[in-house]
Amino acid sequence: MTPPDRYEPYDEPSQPLMRVDGYRESQLRTPSRPLYKRPATLTEITGPLNLAKKLKVGMNDLSRIKQGAPRAMGQLIWVTGRLLDEDAMPVRGSVLEVWQANAAGRYVHKADSGNPAPQDPNFFGSGRCVTDREGRYAFLSVKPGAYPVPNHPTRWWRPPHIHFSILGEGFMSRLVTQMYFPGEPLNGIDLLLKAVPDEKGRERLVARWTPMMQLERADVVGFEHDIVVRGHRATPMGF
Ligand SMILES: [Fe+2]
Repeated sequence: MTPPDRYEPYDEPSQPLMRVDGYRESQLRTPSRPLYKRPATLTEITGPLNLAKKLKVGMNDLSRIKQGAPRAMGQLIWVTGRLLDEDAMPVRGSVLEVWQANAAGRYVHKADSGNPAPQDPNFFGSGRCVTDREGRYAFLSVKPGAYPVPNHPTRWWRPPHIHFSILGEGFMSRLVTQMYFPGEPLNGIDLLLKAVPDEKGRERLVARWTPMMQLERADVVGFEHDIVVRGHRATPMGF
């Protein structure tokens, strides 16, 4: 079975170079040989089914470990946006996962154990939600801090960013990417953002600031970030 026509191909220049000079992990994770293309079966086109029922969802408040617990350190942010397909139609009922560093730039993960930045006992840093009928998602969190990339000769710092994992309507619209914050000076030197050759592709990775008066509450800074899962306007993949 061949995929239907609507699986429009990516616009290659808006996708990152998968081997980034100086970023060892990208070398290790990128296949060294050309990919073997095989026909998509019903599994890839339609599955996984009912993921939102199989996984625990509704975890869109990252600002506390649990309801009633103290709030995490840092500036509260409200991140929202729409998940869209190549025809700009909403992707509904899609499971969207996020993970990020705390306000000091440290992850809750053993791989980050060498990071001297402090842990925050009130911050775990991951969440999962489902897109609604308009393809909209939203979560509350604290703004992640920048962090230095260890053992890198050029003293490379990652700018504040949030990792996203998205399963659109199935495996054919799988996307792992990162969201960046507008106006961050470190965006200009980030090797992963710079790995996207096309400027428009890079712009699609940077959220828009939401004017304060458009927010329902006054204690958050809002960011709007739409994500396109397929086609020539697709949001670039990340690591
Ligand atoms: Fe990260």
